[in-house]
Order: sequence, then C-alpha cells, then structure tokens
Amino acid sequence: MKRVKPKKQHEITRMAEICALSCRTTPVDFVVDFGAGVGHLARILGYGFGIQVCCFEMQAELNQQAVAIDMKLESIAAKLAEASGYKRPVHLTQRLESNTEPAQFIAGIRDTLQLASDDFRFGIIGLHPCGNLGATLMRMFLGCSQAKFLNFVGCCYQKMSTPATHPGAEVHGYPLSSFLQSKPDTDTNLSYEAREISCHAMEVYRDRLQAGQYDHLKIHSFRAAAERMIVQQFPHLRHCALRNVKHAPGMLFDDYFQKAVQGTRFEMIERQVLSIRQCDADVQHWKRLVIFYTLRLMLAPLVESIILYDRALFLSENDCQVEVQAIFNPRLSPRNHITRAVKTRRCLSNNLGQQ
Ligand SMILES: C[S@@+](CC[C@H](N)C(=O)[O-])C[C@H]1O[C@@H](n2cnc3c(N)ncnc32)[C@H](O)[C@@H]1O
Repeated sequence: MKRVKPKKQHEITRMAEICALSCRTTPVDFVVDFGAGVGHLARILGYGFGIQVCCFEMQAELNQQAVAIDMKLESIAAKLAEASGYKRPVHLTQRLESNTEPAQFIAGIRDTLQLASDDFRFGIIGLHPCGNLGATLMRMFLGCSQAKFLNFVGCCYQKMSTPATHPGAEVHGYPLSSFLQSKPDTDTNLSYEAREISCHAMEVYRDRLQAGQYDHLKIHSFRAAAERMIVQQFPHLRHCALRNVKHAPGMLFDDYFQKAVQGTRFEMIERQVLSIRQCDADVQHWKRLVIFYTLRLMLAPLVESIILYDRALFLSENDCQVEVQAIFNPRLSPRNHITRAVKTRRCLSNNLGQQ
C-alpha cells in the first residue's frame, strides 16, 4: 500500500470492505473485477480478505505490472511468515465490448480459473470502469445467471456513447433505462461537456474560492486556451487528454503547455506552428473562466444524478434490488457513488429461462 496514492488507498479500502460484505451476504465463489488496472483492489480482496478475484483488464502491460506486484507482495509476506489463507488474483488481458456475449465471457472465466463446468457463482465489481465499461458490466450482470451481486463506482462519463454521438449503434452507454429511452432524444441528451463536468466535485473548488486561492483556479484558463488552440489548429485532436499540471505562482501559458503535453501526441508538434500569443491573451480572461466554471460545477451533481438514476432504473426495470450510496470522501475522490445490485427471484428465474 505504501506506493499507492492516498486517493487510491482510500478508494480501495472502502470498496474492499463493501465487496467483502457483499460476499458474506450473497455468497459467491469469486468476484470478477472489470477494468482492474494494476489490480490494487483485487490485491486487498485476495491477500487481505481471502477472496478470489478474476481481473479483466484490456491493457497487457498493466496486467504484467499487476503480476509483478502480486509476486513482490507474496515474497515480502513469506519473509514475515504471514503468507496463509490468501487468494492470488488472476489477471486476464481482455477487452470487454458492449457486444461481448455472456457465454463468451463465462467461457473466458471458466478457462482462466480452470473450472470444470459453468456451475459457479460470482460477484461483479468495478472501481471506476470508464465510459461504456460501466454499461457493459451491468449488461453482463443481467445476462449471466452465475452473477449474483454487482458493486461498481463509475467514471469518465464523457467517454460513454450516446444516440447523439453514435446514432447507428444498437446499444449505448447512456441512456440505458427504458424510461429514458422512451423519451425523445432531445429531452434526454447529455452533451459531452455536461458529462465531462459531472465527473468533477465542487468541494475542493469551493474551498479554494472561499480561501481566495485564485492562483490554483487559473489552471483551467490555461487548459481552455490550449483547447481553443487545438480546436482551431488540429480539430481532429479536440478533447484529447493532456497531463494534469499544478499551477505555480507566475506560471505562463508556455510553461503550462510544455508540461501538459509531455508524453502526449502534442509533444511532437513544432513550437512555431502553435499560437502561443493568442493563448497568452486568452489567459488574461481567467476570471471569466472561474465564473463560468463555477456555474458549470453547480450543475455537475444534477448531471451525475441523471446518469446514476438512469443506471439504477435500468437495473430495477430488470428486476434487481438497487442501492446508490456515496462511499468516498468527495474531496479525495470525486466520483464517489457506488451502485450496488442483487437479483430478485424474478430476475433469477428470467436468467434460468435464458439458459
Ligand atoms: C480508470 S481505470 C481504473 C483502474 C482500476 N480499477 C483502479 O481503480 O485503479 C479503468 C481501467 O479500465 C480498463 N478498461 C477500460 N475499458 C475496458 C474494456 N472495455 N475492457 C477491459 N478493460 C477496460 C482501462 O484499461 C483501465 O485500466
């Protein structure tokens, strides 16, 4: 845990307690972690709670790192004579798509865990599965009779597909519920910008406004100036991720941009073609940005509530018992609502009918 950032430590500690509680109240043979990253949550569950975790992660290098950390932890524990009763997580490199069939998913688990048949029970967990992965894990939960409980905290709502962004697609990340799907798209549409702001918490921003720490708030005007330049000069690269940069007193746009593009595709762009002067002029208007951002932040919880209620409705329309609860400190971890679900008898008998 020493090398894990305080934000992540907080999240995995809370999430692991809740997952362990679910395993006690809804007994399962193992849990499946969707978008497990380097396996921090799986490690606490496996080594701390003795719960078997099967991790699905699409990035092979993250899985390699995860295995290396598992081994290191085991060798330290062996020296301390504390190595007993743990379950080593299993890390599987696989991308779960919205059209991944439950049968294909179940076969992947069975083969990875070397199980003799499909007669097993598991819980589905996800700590910040980004974009459509949240919707995919809910569909998988509903589609697999073996899946008994669901615990996940969403993230990166702006990456979800919607009828506006993907008009031809059969399914989308939002909206999911029949209730919202039955309304005209114009009534339910959430723009990219609305979904993006809903990932941010207002608490820390409010503290800084109250404390008059405006220097920290200027950083958004740098990011906005960079985005305006990107949209003007490289329209196909709009909304690309840049590095997070902390504002330092006296920082100029050029200082910011050099740090923000490190390791991104913008790093290779010749400096002469960039309109740095225009950006310097834009940044002069940073106070307008603070006002605009404050107004946007005030609406952020409303947008996130719509997304979370849509997900909860989708699950309850499919005969699940659903609970949405704030479990993380929003100052540390802005996307802090867990969606928990178990299946009612009706859902379980529907599952059996599908088999
Ligand atoms: C925000 S990270 C969270 C990682 C981890 N759960 C944690 O809390 O540290 C989301 C992870 O999901 C993975 N991911 C995203 N979409 C995926 C998909 N369709 N199938 C499998 N993994 C996916 C990403 O590679 C990334 O590692």
